[in-house]
Amino acid sequence: MDKFIIEGNRPLSGEIEASGAKNAALPILCAALLCDEPLRVTRVPRLWDIGTAKKLLAQMGVEVRQPAPDELVVNAAPITTGVAPYELVRTMRASILVLGPLVARRGEAHVSLPGGCAIGARPVNLHLAGLAAMGAEIRLEGGFIHARAARLKGTRIVFDTVTVTGTENLMMAATLAEGETILENAAREPEVADLARCLKRMGARIEGEGSPTIRVRGVKALHGAEHEVLPDRIETGTYLVAGAATRGRVRVNRTDPSLLDAVLVKLQQAGAKLSLGADFVEADMQGRRPRAVNIHTLPYPGFPTDMQAQFMALDCLAEGVGTIRETIFENRFMHAQELLRLGADIRIEGNTAVVTGRERLTAAPIMATDLRASASLVIAALAAEGETFIDRIYHMDRGYEDIEGKLARLGARIKRVSKLL
Ligand code: UD1
Repeated sequence: MDKFIIEGNRPLSGEIEASGAKNAALPILCAALLCDEPLRVTRVPRLWDIGTAKKLLAQMGVEVRQPAPDELVVNAAPITTGVAPYELVRTMRASILVLGPLVARRGEAHVSLPGGCAIGARPVNLHLAGLAAMGAEIRLEGGFIHARAARLKGTRIVFDTVTVTGTENLMMAATLAEGETILENAAREPEVADLARCLKRMGARIEGEGSPTIRVRGVKALHGAEHEVLPDRIETGTYLVAGAATRGRVRVNRTDPSLLDAVLVKLQQAGAKLSLGADFVEADMQGRRPRAVNIHTLPYPGFPTDMQAQFMALDCLAEGVGTIRETIFENRFMHAQELLRLGADIRIEGNTAVVTGRERLTAAPIMATDLRASASLVIAALAAEGETFIDRIYHMDRGYEDIEGKLARLGARIKRVSKLL
């Protein structure tokens, strides 16, 4: 199993390019299931999760070609089965995104229930209730969701909780339903809007994406199209925080700072001097120690839960006390235990972490537990004194393209090893 060895206590400095957003690329690849013509997707990040999505589609008989390293052409015409097996769904919960498209286009789907995951229960009840409201017959048996519908029917669906993949699943299903579907309390995340843009290129009739009310008028069929994935706002934010935690200066190019409002406000409060353009953002600490910030995670446009762990690492090194409240996932503080091993001062009370900043953290062997947690450990290690070994970095490979390459370009001393030397 791969590990990182990071020699810390060096300010990051330099420029990198953002990759395409994992959380937009995944639903967009699943959207290819909605038609029998090729969907060409560009700016696809090279990640484990994308590899899992490719496998998931391929084992259904779908043709997936890769004409360039960041380009995939998905043709669902030869699809033979609508099954998403446990082995793949277990490794990537976002596999649930094939459910809506399969029921809409093939009239049936058999998708393994995802089961538990490191950051909480993460049920899919809202995906299922929405499909049932659209007329699908849903059966849970043998650990699988079996869904069937001759043709889905448009209806009004009010989500109890804002759910990103739930909104995406039902929006995709609605594109081929009979009549109009109205999704209320829909997720407003930019990745949902990017999926809607792609679906519209495929012939879908969608209005209101990016707002809490999305209207979809069903059509008989969708067609092939080409779509470029939007930049990854979480990746962008992660590198900016890494720069800030190490008292450095990091510029991310080919990104979209307008997607990062809530994150940039916090970086500014932490003392970073920001420079923004249409497609770049730079955060410069001018050698200063960050100030502690308070975080409260919320659905977009609030502060993203996917940036919470990175800011906890920042607060561990900051001047003052920061309070971090996690309201989206109930068990998303697993990184705290590992940060403590580096000498951090963190007290957890329910869904709140109180972090008292330390002038310095010191290296220790630590272990990644989930995707964003691993990003926070890398940030802490980059700032810590000494050589930190981070185990189980496959979590990081799920969501960050070329992490070592990008960090090395910023001057980090980071090495990947396959086993302890
Ligand atoms: C997506 C993102 C993930 C991000 C999360 C929240 C992808 C592939 N993943 O995950 O990176 O952290 O949004 O921004 O886009 N819930 C229910 N019932 C449901 C569905 C969700 O109760 O049927 C709850 C969840 O337990 C959670 C909350 O709703 O408390 C939000 O989850 P959701 O937005 O669905 O997360 P994902 O779409 O899985």
